[in-house]
Amino acid sequence: MTHWHPGSWRTYPLYQYPPYDDPMGVQRVTENLRGYPPLVAPGEVELLTEALAEAAAGRRFLLQGGDCAERFSDCTAASITARLQVLLQMSLVLTYATRKPVIRVGRMAGQYAKPRSADTETVNGQVLPAYRGDLVNDVGTDPVSRRPDPERMRWGYHHAAVTLNYIRALIEGGFADLHHPEKWDLGFIENSPHREAYRRIVDAITDAVTFMETIGGGGETLRRVSFYTSHEALLLPYEEALTRQDESGRWFNLGAHFLWVGYRTADPYGAHVHYLSGIANPVGIKVGPDTRPDFFRKLLEKLNPSRLSGRLTVISRYGAESVGEGLPALIETARADGQPVLWCCDPMHGNTRTTAAGRKTRMLSDIFRELEQTFEIHAACGSVLGGVHFELTGSAVTECLGGSSGITEQDLRTFYETACDPRLNAEQSLEMAFLIARLLRQDHAPN
Ligand code: PEP
Ligand code: CO
Repeated sequence: MTHWHPGSWRTYPLYQYPPYDDPMGVQRVTENLRGYPPLVAPGEVELLTEALAEAAAGRRFLLQGGDCAERFSDCTAASITARLQVLLQMSLVLTYATRKPVIRVGRMAGQYAKPRSADTETVNGQVLPAYRGDLVNDVGTDPVSRRPDPERMRWGYHHAAVTLNYIRALIEGGFADLHHPEKWDLGFIENSPHREAYRRIVDAITDAVTFMETIGGGGETLRRVSFYTSHEALLLPYEEALTRQDESGRWFNLGAHFLWVGYRTADPYGAHVHYLSGIANPVGIKVGPDTRPDFFRKLLEKLNPSRLSGRLTVISRYGAESVGEGLPALIETARADGQPVLWCCDPMHGNTRTTAAGRKTRMLSDIFRELEQTFEIHAACGSVLGGVHFELTGSAVTECLGGSSGITEQDLRTFYETACDPRLNAEQSLEMAFLIARLLRQDHAPN
């Protein structure tokens, strides 16, 4: 076996690599990046690993969410604030529902690289290189925009740093106004068939929070929350440059707290999995209809040979139609191998459809159905669904269909902004959190 070092992925099959016409540029930029300070600290990464181990054991719950493709242009106060706010609101609802501390992990401050199903796309009759995320090229529909530019890695680092700095400032400054749920923008409740159930949850949260504030117990906990960052570990020269050794000699990716390997690159013999096998961060694996149990076993073995709890999060993304068929065998494989994985459900990526007008979308009903079934499957298999993973944004986009505001195919034209996959808007995200809350609390919802 080759000795692992941050660059040893180079001798393994590499997928999804941009066709750079300037390899010297890649070298120059990554050499600079190696000299820049890390964005996160090993101590924070270890705290997250411990929290994820707790979630795997059913004592905490993971909420991971954010943009499909974060854009450099999203690095504004308004956009960061809105995304953070929706994640914080969802997390409070989920805390209420699960009666467990929620671990908040954003797809934020570095979710800039995208895997693509095809290397090219045709726009107005012109064949263009695919957009691979702002870390690689520009979404503009001309050949110059689509040229992979190594300098973008440097910009990516700076945008991630600025985004994370603002997140830290907001949280330290008490932005997490979780003790006033009555201030939430809950207008959507009025149109919802679940109105009464929602109201009961909001009232119960308000009561609990008021009670804690009255007795002086909840202040600091409610104001100061922990928040972690994550992205897909896709563009390996960038990830390598942010991989640093701590005093004990362990290697950490200090560009984010949590990294995951995407569905298209989760090959146990490939470069991406090899890279992730050597870092001490908690890592995620996306699994779905094409994940064969024998490959899955090899992935688990390669990424977690010591079977450490908190190290591996398995993010299932089957789609409502096929989750029942595929997931139980993987749950059984992990159990038989004694792998203490944290199971998390991504109900977005298996439920993407294209409308007659050619737009990618997802239906809230499919998203919810996959979640519901995934909870049921884990209950039947005696395992724990310890987390959820969403693509969402803080603004009022119209990219996913349905929900109580009733977004229709016609509405997709109104505010369709994603550079990649369709995201839940703020209202749909919060509605989803309430739906999960109802699902989890069905037996003991307050009357
Ligand atoms: C994603 O999370 O944006 C993504 C591309 O997912 P997957 O690898 O599961 O297809
Ligand atoms: Co996506």
